Formats: sequence, structure tokens, C-alpha cells
Amino acid sequence: MNSPSDIDTLKRRAAAAAVEYVHDGYLVGLGTGSTVGHVVRALGERVRAGLRIKGVPTSQETAELAKSTGIPLLPDQDAWPIDVTIDGADQVDPQLNLIKGGGGALLREKIVAAASKQLIIVVDATKRVPVLGGPCPLPIEVVRFGWPNTARRIEALGGKVALRERDGRVFTTESGHYILDCRWDRIEDPAALEMQLNRIPGVVESGLFVGRTTILIAGTPQGVEVQKAGRQRGSV
Ligand code: A5P
Repeated sequence: MNSPSDIDTLKRRAAAAAVEYVHDGYLVGLGTGSTVGHVVRALGERVRAGLRIKGVPTSQETAELAKSTGIPLLPDQDAWPIDVTIDGADQVDPQLNLIKGGGGALLREKIVAAASKQLIIVVDATKRVPVLGGPCPLPIEVVRFGWPNTARRIEALGGKVALRERDGRVFTTESGHYILDCRWDRIEDPAALEMQLNRIPGVVESGLFVGRTTILIAGTPQGVEVQKAGRQRGSV
């Protein structure tokens, strides 16, 4: 079960389970990515059936999809007391720490996650790993000014840095920054690395999400696995 369509089935399963956590009157943070696409479409169906919610999107892509499905959105510059955010991830470790930012939306995603009472992460089960890192680069959003200097400081922490490009051009985030995709073989202490990265001038934010996940929902060939923060896998 590893073809793209099989993986998409697992993502859809996780998304279907996650929308059950959204209740009438909720303010909902909407992440970014293909798994969240399934979430937004499923939520849109419930809105059209009468569910009253408002969304806070983490990217233009999500905002457009949400609008097209009928989910009303709050303005970007608002104080949002978000009840629940549903978002995807690129990797999840057993403590529910995450690497995010494959789609380049990590800054808004972290701001929205920080404003949320609950963060539900939806993934296909292939994203679960014993230790973060390895084949999955850690995206780090940096200010364009002097970025090679910022990159050198990241390399001093052991990361192998590549400036993200798309279609032959340097990728720029919606906030106007660059992304450095940085490889570590094993991120043994994500909390320590997140703090070290945040101390580097020029680093805007990293894709490490440490201690933020409330619930993980992983789509598997058999159904879904739900893991709550602070619990072992399979003990929910
Ligand atoms: C977007 O910036 C990312 O954090 C996504 O949430 C992550 O890349 C997961 O994407 P998929 O759901 O498309 O795998």
C-alpha cells in the first residue's frame, strides 16, 4: 500500500476522522497541504449541511479552497481564539513532535497552531518515524537579507543546507522569505534544536513543531490510529 493513490486513501481516512472533532460554533484553524485539502472539502460538506464554523487559513491555497467549499473565513489580521486547528505534517515522532513546511507554509502554520486550544495532526501512516530527520529535510524560513550567512550558522549546528527552488527559481514564501531545506541524519533533541535555530539572527521560524500536537490521527490500511499527547502509541 504505497502507491500515490493508496497513500491518498490513507490521508482521506485521517481527514474524515479529524473533522468529527469540529463542532458547531467553532473557530477552526485550517492547515496546508494535500491531507488538509481532504479536511477542508469534508468540512465544507458539513457547512453546506448546516454546521456553523469560521476558518483561519494558513495559506492562500487553503483560503481559496475553503472559500470555494463555502467555509467562511476570518480576516488575516484578527485576534483569533481558535478552538481547534487541523493540519498535516511531513514527519511525526513517537512524542508527536513534527517536521512541517514541505509546502512552505510553516510560519503561518506555527502562528495558527500557537493560537489554538487543540492541534490535530492528520497524516498517512508512512509519516510516522522513530526519530525526526534522515531523508526528510527540515524547512527553515529565513530573511532574504544575508541568507548565506544565516545558512552558515545553521551548518554550524550540523545541518546540510539547500536553498529551496521551484521551477528553476528561488522559492519565496507568502511572507516574502526564503526557505532553507536542512538535513540532519537524526534530530535526537528537537526541542534543543528548535531553540538553537530560533537564536540565529535571520531565522524567522523553523518547521520543528515541538510539544504542540494534541492529537495525531494517522490513516492506515486498516483504518485510523489515534494518539493523544502524552500517551504511548496504541494506548488511546
Ligand atoms: C505545509 O507547509 C506543510 O506543513 C504540510 O502540512 C505538510 O507538508 C504535509 O503535506 P501533505 O498533507 O501534502 O503531505
